[in-house]
Amino acid sequence: MIELKIAILTGGGDCPGLNAVIRGIVKAKRSEDSVIGFKRGWEGVINDDYVNLTEDDVEGIHLLGGTILGTSRTNPFSIADGSKKVADNFEKEKIDALIAIGGDDTLSVATKFCGLGLKIVGVPKTIDNDVSNTDYTFGFHTAVNVGADAIDRLQSTAKSHGRIMLVELMGRDAGWITLEAGLAAGAHLILIPEFPRTIEEIIEILVKRMKVKGYAVVAVAEGFKPTNLENVVGDKSTIDPFGHIKLGGIAHYLSEIIEQKTGYETRSVVLGHLLRGGTPTAFDRILGTRYGVEAMKLVQKCDFGRMVALSGNDIISIPIEYGVATKKLVPFDYYKLAEMFFG
Ligand code: F6P
Repeated sequence: MIELKIAILTGGGDCPGLNAVIRGIVKAKRSEDSVIGFKRGWEGVINDDYVNLTEDDVEGIHLLGGTILGTSRTNPFSIADGSKKVADNFEKEKIDALIAIGGDDTLSVATKFCGLGLKIVGVPKTIDNDVSNTDYTFGFHTAVNVGADAIDRLQSTAKSHGRIMLVELMGRDAGWITLEAGLAAGAHLILIPEFPRTIEEIIEILVKRMKVKGYAVVAVAEGFKPTNLENVVGDKSTIDPFGHIKLGGIAHYLSEIIEQKTGYETRSVVLGHLLRGGTPTAFDRILGTRYGVEAMKLVQKCDFGRMVALSGNDIISIPIEYGVATKKLVPFDYYKLAEMFFG
């Protein structure tokens, strides 16, 4: 039987469940095959920097947050000779297949390399849950749990002080984390990028609630922009190698306006990277494990250019570009359901 050398990389923002995928891949390999892990995403492929991964190396790692391989937002196509170095190191190391674990950025790069003839299988990862044609990406469930727990806690302090509390959650252009965490923890208003509102609408909902209940908790997505105020948040001076600006600040921005216009004491909290840190939930450990095992099966079947995905409760595979061509955003009906509980 031909021995295969399979490489793995984890790229983009870290995410709970990455180690479960790595362990799943290594467990599913045939005894004659070997697995290596490039360090820090595409950066490791460019620099030919990797570690060997045996069953011993991955024992128990599914319990750990982050990624044992490290990660980065390196884009080989925005670095001089980056893509050439990737192709050269593939050849130098005699790699038969690469399993790229990442979100839309990492997987878009994977798609480009597939077009250049590299043999790649993708695994969708992101807390944002915005990869298309998969019901869930791993990491999302953990982020929602952390977010819901934080909003639960803010309820009691908001109530004790009779305040409005705004809590800001990650998710970039997608409102999935904010919507589900807010829904689970009973936020009194949920603001997400898919459904902008004016400042006046926000204030109307909050004043109504404050008059009756005396406190309010608002979940706001980092990518939310009030209608007609497109440019209020985000640090445009820091653009990452994939062209994204650093988001953050909408909760603080809104809380100042709300306090000033309503007279109610208002505070803001940014959950930020707390949503991504720490150990994955059981759901994410299992999803990551199933994705890893299936990714290795695709490699063994030489089914390249494809990405594993969740459809209902089944793990399927789809062309990688189907996952990254468009972002999966919160649909109208789901937001309408959440809206029933506002105020
Ligand atoms: O894509 C995952 C994510 O956590 C986003 O929700 C967030 O905007 C971004 O990464 C933050 O990136 P960084 O870790 O580079 O600050």
